[in-house]
Amino acid sequence: MHENRQLFPLGKAYGKAFCNRVEETEQLVGNIKSCKHTLLIAPRRYGKSSLAEKAVEKAEFPSVKINFHLATTEQETAQLILDGVIKLVGIAVGRVEKLTASIKKYVSNLEPLFSLGNDVASLKLIPKKEVNLSVVIAEALLLVEKLLREKNKRAVIFFDEFQEIDRISKHAGIEGAIRTAAQEMQCLSLIFSGSIRSLLLSLFDDENRPLYKLCRKIKIDRISMSDYEKHIQKIAVDTWGSKLTEETFSKIMDLSNQHPYYVNYLCDSIWQICKQLPKPEDIERAWKKVVAEEWSDVLHELAELPLGQRRLLKYIANHEVKSLQSQETSSSLAMATSSISTAVNVLVEKDYLEQDPSGNYLVINPLLLAVLKGAED
Ligand SMILES: Nc1ncnc2c1ncn2[C@@H]1O[C@H](COP(=O)(O)OP(=O)(O)O)[C@@H](O)[C@H]1O
Ligand SMILES: [Mg+2]
Repeated sequence: MHENRQLFPLGKAYGKAFCNRVEETEQLVGNIKSCKHTLLIAPRRYGKSSLAEKAVEKAEFPSVKINFHLATTEQETAQLILDGVIKLVGIAVGRVEKLTASIKKYVSNLEPLFSLGNDVASLKLIPKKEVNLSVVIAEALLLVEKLLREKNKRAVIFFDEFQEIDRISKHAGIEGAIRTAAQEMQCLSLIFSGSIRSLLLSLFDDENRPLYKLCRKIKIDRISMSDYEKHIQKIAVDTWGSKLTEETFSKIMDLSNQHPYYVNYLCDSIWQICKQLPKPEDIERAWKKVVAEEWSDVLHELAELPLGQRRLLKYIANHEVKSLQSQETSSSLAMATSSISTAVNVLVEKDYLEQDPSGNYLVINPLLLAVLKGAED
């Protein structure tokens, strides 16, 4: 195994594995420092979490991350927020035993419970009986803000996989609570991140919903070819003593479709199998390995899609599609043009498809594309 494989993580990219995103990082650090809340938008596995963690680290503000993937009910969501808040108070404000008076002053719907462990006190915030969960959430978030303000300190909360809120909270209570607290904040800044654009955007872009116009938005695209070139060639030189040829490098970009997750997956496979400077055919070989490894997972994912969407994806993967509304497309798919356009919209919303600058639809995930191209009828 080559140690440089560590530079192509499948999880979050840290340190030397983090390629570029200079502008986005600067923008996010600026938002954090000026206490603007931010909404990070990108398809799954484009690097939202990596970017948020990088920026928080760079801003040098204390922070906590609250990941809503772990929540299935409003109750659990409130508990995650309470846990995050307590943790952040400890990191950003100071030892809780010295804050008893302030905490008591700032909460009325939560009962603060201090317990003395070995030599550190710990805090629990217990919602009073019959108190609405959204009141609990707003009060908890505002507690951090008020403590920070009192001590003249700053902090960040990173809400990851925030789109889950839309599934969990059916009555906009949690969104409303977050808005109530967020609009008061001068010391605490929030980062909202998640996938499924349509869900996130419906949370933040719908004027009838509580979180409307609360955030600056940062849209994350793929990392550019030239940034990847610097990043990957440096690692190639370090590994094999020379750069990859232009053709070899392009092969990596093509096969992975410059998708940050698959660039890393493919490079990991290349660095795993190549003892010497790879040639284009080695890149093909490494990609085949990735495809073989993921094939059954992808088939499984495809099988979960409704038939019409699946058929359409396959068609787009195998044809240069100029217009999906043409009679030709409609008859070769045996689908009415209206069903085609519904299916396209759903697939775009779910981040399966994107449109290139000339309006052609493309499959985002290169592995899905590989499977769709090779799939039997
Ligand atoms: N700036 C970056 N440079 C290199 N690889 C990155 C970068 N950002 C993300 N990645 C890679 O992309 C994949 C997805 O990253 P992650 O931050 O988990 O994305 P998201 O939160 O959008 O799902 C991981 O394999 C990660 O290592
Ligand atoms: Mg993430």
